[in-house]
Amino acid sequence: ITMGNHTWDNKDIFEWIDDEPRLVRPANYAEGAPGQGMAFIKAGGKQLAIINLQGRTFLPPIDCPFRKADELIEEAKEQTNNILVDFHAEATSEKIAMGWHLDGRASIVLGTHTHVQTNDDTILPGGTAYITDVGMVGPKEGVLGMERNAVLHKFITQLPVRFVVDEGKWHLHAISVQIDDATGQARKIEKIRLTEDEWLLM
Ligand SMILES: [Fe+2]
Repeated sequence: ITMGNHTWDNKDIFEWIDDEPRLVRPANYAEGAPGQGMAFIKAGGKQLAIINLQGRTFLPPIDCPFRKADELIEEAKEQTNNILVDFHAEATSEKIAMGWHLDGRASIVLGTHTHVQTNDDTILPGGTAYITDVGMVGPKEGVLGMERNAVLHKFITQLPVRFVVDEGKWHLHAISVQIDDATGQARKIEKIRLTEDEWLLM
């Protein structure tokens, strides 16, 4: 589970984040922040490094994600060539730039945060699978997962509103990537987009 700009929103996380090896928070937070910015997942005799980074364009200013990526890729390569980078960022330009920055060094660079799956999935020339945003898993009939009337009210009145998670139908966005696990290069990337209605027909 990779995180993003809402990592610290619920203060309960401080009680257990250091004891949860499956949770990865953005690695470019200030030195000494709780939690980890990289994790290694093992399955079927193979290993995958998972790195989480957060952008800093239209998001709170934090340490440089590009330099932190360099540092962690080097560290990950001591254990495996199979490296996934989840870049949680707002600006498409910053995410595309990260794709190029890590092309040939990471197996997968995927963007998150904007909740909308982009149609630019590709294998970059150096062998990195890339997509600007994977999309979201959650309510489909709200606004980025929140109940739509509250969001509309805020846009129209510009008054503060309490957002609640929408309870309508869901949709699921994901990607599937094949990696040559000897070299860490991506062979194939596919987008997955499924709605509740399509699921019920299956
Ligand atoms: Fe986010």
